[in-house]
Parts: sequence; structure tokens; C-alpha cells
Amino acid sequence: MSFYSLTSSIAAATIFITLLFSNSQAQLNSSFYATTCPNVTTIVRNALQQAMQSDIRIGASLIRLHFHDCFVNGCDGSVLLDRGGNITQSEKDGGPNTNSARGFGVVDNIKTAVENSCPGVVSCADILALAAESSVSLAGGPSWNVLLGRRDGLRANQSGANSSIPAPIDSLSNLTSKFSAVGLDTTDLVALSGAHTFGRAQCRVFSGRLYNFNGTGNPDPTVNGTYLTTLRQICPQNGNGSALANLDPTTADTFDNNYYTNLQNNQGLLQSDQELFSTNGPAAIVAIVNNFASNQTAFFQQFVQSMINMGNISPLTGSNGEIRADCKKVNGS
Ligand code: HEM
Ligand SMILES: *[C@@H]1O[C@H](CO)[C@@H](O)[C@H](O)[C@H]1NC(C)=O
Ligand SMILES: *[C@@H]1O[C@H](CO)[C@@H](O)[C@H](O)[C@H]1NC(C)=O
Ligand SMILES: *[C@@H]1O[C@H](CO)[C@@H](O)[C@H](O)[C@H]1NC(C)=O
Ligand SMILES: *[C@@H]1O[C@H](CO)[C@@H](O)[C@H](O)[C@H]1NC(C)=O
Ligand SMILES: *[C@@H]1O[C@H](CO)[C@@H](O)[C@H](O)[C@H]1NC(C)=O
Ligand SMILES: *[C@@H]1O[C@H](CO)[C@@H](O)[C@H](O)[C@H]1NC(C)=O
Ligand SMILES: *[C@@H]1O[C@H](CO)[C@@H](O)[C@H](O)[C@H]1NC(C)=O
Ligand SMILES: *[C@@H]1O[C@H](CO)[C@@H](O)[C@H](O)[C@H]1NC(C)=O
Ligand SMILES: *[C@@H]1O[C@H](CO)[C@@H](O)[C@H](O)[C@H]1NC(C)=O
Ligand SMILES: *[C@@H]1O[C@H](CO)[C@@H](O)[C@H](O)[C@H]1NC(C)=O
Repeated sequence: MSFYSLTSSIAAATIFITLLFSNSQAQLNSSFYATTCPNVTTIVRNALQQAMQSDIRIGASLIRLHFHDCFVNGCDGSVLLDRGGNITQSEKDGGPNTNSARGFGVVDNIKTAVENSCPGVVSCADILALAAESSVSLAGGPSWNVLLGRRDGLRANQSGANSSIPAPIDSLSNLTSKFSAVGLDTTDLVALSGAHTFGRAQCRVFSGRLYNFNGTGNPDPTVNGTYLTTLRQICPQNGNGSALANLDPTTADTFDNNYYTNLQNNQGLLQSDQELFSTNGPAAIVAIVNNFASNQTAFFQQFVQSMINMGNISPLTGSNGEIRADCKKVNGS
């Protein structure tokens, strides 16, 4: 091999490796649809606002879908896939989602509105990320530039949904390890749990705390006495497990930092919420709760950063995956 062909081989290999490397590292960015769907943020926001007129809770339901999407095989729209065809076990039918996750019809309406302006361009995974941001900002929380460019996955992972999505009775160490498994730290855990500043939970997910906690025959000792009385009225023993309580008993539909003052007052609704303020838990976690309780700006700043971190979990980019035409189905199925 001559010197020149060796040099050009090295140059070609370098270019190849550079491309390979930059491709595998394809980063999301906020201008991904700047030329192909410049109004996408407004379209999503308007469609969400429309849905909020008849369902004040819908924003909360949609940010939860983004969370449940991202924790299972990355933010790839997998949570939206119905069972059928190649999808033998949907995530929707998994433990954390069945009879719980909601808002799928509104996602379809948003997708239709987006398709009407820019057909075949915007992924369902990105629609969830955009809807999450609009949900927060329309409820009085921070707004931010959503990073975009995710593509939609071709499969669902029901066992992943069962094992990776945190449960309301998880211990703090279970919560920490489930967040850590997707690259999120304890600051992200505390900040993102602050999304429980709006939305509802069904009695069945917390009633274990109200009457016979952990087999003791008594309520969870960490529930505020006044709050316990209120919750027992909403959720009578052996009553309807699908009755609803506000996750934030103080400002139910507003995105603010009251979630953290609630924890300080022993008014966290879920066991997993109140554990963030546990007296025998890590002092560092309690310190973050106290900081967010006293400084809403600090909470909002960290919440935005943690939403970006969560939105960056293993996205499909470049030519991986697809842009689904119907968020419920893999194309061609
Ligand atoms: C830290 C671990 C978490 C646990 C154990 C957890 C658990 C739950 C549970 C059990 C519900 C009620 C579901 C039902 O009653 O059907 C719920 C609702 C909700 N979660 Fe979480 N969650 C966690 C983290 C998050 C995160 C990271 C977000 C978003 C960033 C989030 C957003 C929401 C919202 C907004 C609702 C209300 C949904 C609605 O009203 O439809 N949660 N969560
Ligand atoms: C955003 O990402 C896409 C895909 O990786 C890329 O083509 C585009 O140049 C990026 N835009 C900016 C402003 O970085
Ligand atoms: C974007 O929205 C504005 C008004 O909200 C409208 O005037 C404009 O035509 C839209 N552009 C596109 C490309 O849809
Ligand atoms: C069917 O699912 C498998 C993985 O479960 C995937 O590899 C394959 O590409 C899917 N086929 C189609 C047509 O989407
Ligand atoms: C996931 O959990 C649900 C409800 O607990 C169960 O019915 C289903 O069989 C589980 N799926 C897998 C794949 O483990
Ligand atoms: C399903 O999710 C689990 C846990 O998140 C993961 O370990 C597993 O690799 C996933 N399976 C597939 C086929 O993606
Ligand atoms: C928490 O994690 C431990 C160890 O992995 C496990 O045995 C336990 O079942 C988990 N608890 C819950 C509520 O998932
Ligand atoms: C529940 O009870 C078991 C033993 O009966 C104990 O090890 C565990 O720490 C208790 N959990 C909580 C949250 O109190
Ligand atoms: C339980 O409540 C849900 C919603 O609040 C309602 O749809 C359902 O019919 C109730 N079930 C019973 C047995 O009362
Ligand atoms: C219980 O909640 C009330 C507010 O409703 C609060 O004033 C009180 O300090 C709380 N008690 C405890 C022990 O957290
Ligand atoms: C609140 O938090 C912000 C952001 O971290 C910080 O800049 C500000 O100094 C804090 N305010 C107070 C009163 O501590």
C-alpha cells in the first residue's frame, strides 16, 4: 500500500468513525422541526388547551404518560401502542398503567392536529414531550424549550413496564434504584416527584396507608391526623378503589411547590411521596425537599432540568424507529 492510499484510507476511516460516533450520539435539540413543522409547539398547546376545557386533569395525565413512556425502553412512544398485530403485550395493559394511565384519546387528537399541518413529520414520542411541557406551563409552572427529534419505537415492553416504573409502595431505596436504572439521580427523583402537585390518584393506590398499614392494624404513622380523616372520608374501608383524591390537597390543579410543603406537613398522598421526607431517610433528600418547599424558583429550575434529563432517556434518533402515522399502532400493522 502506498503512502498516499494509506493516508486516504486513514482519512476515510476517520470520517467513517466520526460519522458512526456522531450518529450514535445524535442529540435531541429544540429546533428539530424548525423547518418541517415550525408551529408544532403551538399546535400541541392549543389542542391541549381545548381538551382542558372539559377535563382540567388532562395535563397531569399526559405528563404521566411521558414519564411512563421514558422509563420503559426510553422515550419512544411505546406506552401508546395498543395490543394487536405484532404487539402481543401492550404497556397499557401492564400493572402500572391498566385502569390508571389515561389521556390516550387526547394524544390521538393532538396527533391529528399536528398531522393536519405537517403530515408524517412529528413523532408520537415528541408529542408526549411537548404535551408534558404545555401541561406544566398551562397549570402555572415553568415553561422551557423542549428537546425534540425522538422517533417512535416498533415494540412495547410490558414486563419492562411492570418492573421499571416506580410503584406507590416502593421504598425509598426501590425508588432510587429505579431512577438510577434510567440514569436519573436522587435530585431528579425529588424534583420529578413534584409533578404530584397536580392530578389525581385512586384510593386503591394509597388506601393501604389508611386502615391497616403494612399489617399493623393501624394507619401509616406518617399520615397527618387531620389529613387521615379527610382521606378516610374519600376512601371508606372496603369502598370503591377507583374513587379519586387530589395528589396535592392544597392547590389541586396548580403547578406549584406546595407538594413539598405538603410533605413537611405529613400530607403526602402516596407512601412514595411521604418517604421523601422520612425522618430516618437520607438527610440529603430531606434537604432537597426543604429547599424546594422554601424556594419555588429553585424547584422550577430543577424540575425543568430533570424533565430534560428524563426526556433524554435512550431516544431513538436518526433512522432508528419511525414516525408513526397513528400513535396507537406501528406503521403498516
Ligand atoms: C417517584 C415515583 C413515582 C411513583 C411511585 C408514582 C406513582 C403514581 C401513582 C400511583 C399515581 C396514581 C395513579 C392512579 O391512581 O391511577 C400517580 C399519578 C400521577 N403521577 Fe406519579 N409517580 C411517580 C413519579 C412521577 C413522575 C416522575 C411524574 C412526572 C414527571 C409523575 C406524574 C404523575 C401525575 C401528574 C399523576 C396524576 C395523573 C392523573 O391525574 O391522571 N409521577 N403517580
Ligand atoms: C438538530 O438535530 C438534527 C438531527 O440530529 C440536526 O439535523 C440539526 O442540525 C440539529 N439542529 C441544531 C440547531 O443543532
Ligand atoms: C403558524 O401559526 C400562525 C398563527 O398561530 C399562522 O399564522 C401560521 O400560518 C402558521 N404557520 C404554519 C406553517 O402553519
Ligand atoms: C415486530 O416486533 C419485533 C420485536 O418484538 C421487531 O423486531 C419487528 O421489527 C416488529 N415488526 C414490525 C413489522 O414492526
Ligand atoms: C404485568 O403485570 C400485570 C399486572 O400485574 C400482569 O397481569 C401481567 O401478566 C404482567 N406482564 C408481564 C409480561 O409480566
Ligand atoms: C424490557 O424492559 C426491561 C426493563 O426495563 C429491560 O431490561 C429489557 O431489556 C426490555 N426488553 C426489551 C425486549 O426491550
Ligand atoms: C424493593 O426492592 C427489593 C429488592 O430488590 C425487593 O425485594 C422488593 O420486593 C421491592 N419492593 C417493592 C415494593 O417493589
Ligand atoms: C413493614 O413491615 C416489615 C416487617 O413486618 C418491615 O421490615 C418494614 O420495614 C415495614 N415497612 C414499612 C414501610 O414500615
Ligand atoms: C366506582 O367508581 C367509579 C368511578 O368513580 C365508577 O365508575 C364505578 O361505577 C364505581 N363502582 C362501583 C362498584 O360503585
Ligand atoms: C397537619 O396538617 C396541618 C395542616 O392541615 C398542619 O397545620 C399541621 O402542622 C400538620 N401536622 C403535622 C404533624 O405535620
Ligand atoms: C432560590 O433558588 C434560586 C435558584 O436556585 C436561587 O438563585 C435563589 O438565590 C434562591 N432564593 C433564596 C431566597 O434562597
